[in-house]
Amino acid sequence: MDINAIYTQIDLDLQGISSPEGLEQFRLKYLGRKGVVAELTSVIPTLSKEERAAFGKLANALKNKLVSLIEEKEKTLLGSAQENKSSVCDIGMPGIVRELGQLHPLTRITDEICDIFNQLGFSIVEGPEIETEYNNFTGLNIPLEHPSREAFDTFYIKDYAKMLLRSHTSPVQVRAMKSGKPPLAIVVPGRVYRPDAVDASHSFMFHQIEGFMVDKGIKFSDLKGILEIFAKTIFGKDIKMRFRPHFFPFTEPSAEVDISCIICKGKGCSVCGRKGWLEILGSGLIHPNVLKHVGIDAQVYTGFAFGMGVERIAMLKYGINDIRLFFENDLRFLKQF
Ligand code: DAH
Repeated sequence: MDINAIYTQIDLDLQGISSPEGLEQFRLKYLGRKGVVAELTSVIPTLSKEERAAFGKLANALKNKLVSLIEEKEKTLLGSAQENKSSVCDIGMPGIVRELGQLHPLTRITDEICDIFNQLGFSIVEGPEIETEYNNFTGLNIPLEHPSREAFDTFYIKDYAKMLLRSHTSPVQVRAMKSGKPPLAIVVPGRVYRPDAVDASHSFMFHQIEGFMVDKGIKFSDLKGILEIFAKTIFGKDIKMRFRPHFFPFTEPSAEVDISCIICKGKGCSVCGRKGWLEILGSGLIHPNVLKHVGIDAQVYTGFAFGMGVERIAMLKYGINDIRLFFENDLRFLKQF
């Protein structure tokens, strides 16, 4: 029996083992009941007394060596199994792509409108959504008996009779004219609130942009020029604009501004109600009473003002037929902009 040959074979066998099953087979081959070691020991009784001791020693050493080799191999197999587990990560697999968000269409159109006026020299100012009754109405020359002051047209704040949710962005005129001196050129974007029942064209909360300019010698033609630049930039060079006489308490004279229908180009269609014109905003020369309220000398200074609904502009520009779409957070709608 060549013990060295056995050790060499053990080495070879061990190298080929890569799984616990393989190791078990190895164990059986050498330490099993009919294994190599058992075979060796079965020879002992046939040996002479002198040989027995030496042979027994060799067999014992072989057995011990095998036990420790098996233990060692078990550990390495376990270690590489864990390693395999922690490297399940497949670096060739495509990553999770985070979807990019985007600005809400109302934010985009507000930015776009403010940018136009900003380039014309207007500053952008914001005001609070909770306003005083004075700034929202009285300071703007809206008389006590005006229907818009009724509780069903304005959200008053319970227990604070003189406070309300602003129903337009015009009160920022009062704030800005009180805190700054002319020349003033300001646009005011922001949310406004009215207790309207919600339908395709009404919402209890919507957005407006107010604009105004106060200086010596401001004329109606300044208003027309500025608004024409605005309308053509937003709706396209080919649109026509018209001023229709109207009444607002805070402007005199006052006008509503229409653009030629962007759908039918003025011929008359269902969008413009066969009129060929679409109303886009209210405007006028600031009423002397408003200037008086804020302490600006109406004999020296004049100004113009205008106010528009952001939803309305966006609906006209993008052909949206229901205001509720802006507020439902439906990504199928929002992703189109
Ligand atoms: N504040 C008006 C509204 O909410 C809009 C408006 C009309 C503002 C005419 C103005 C203006 O500054 O001159 O309906």
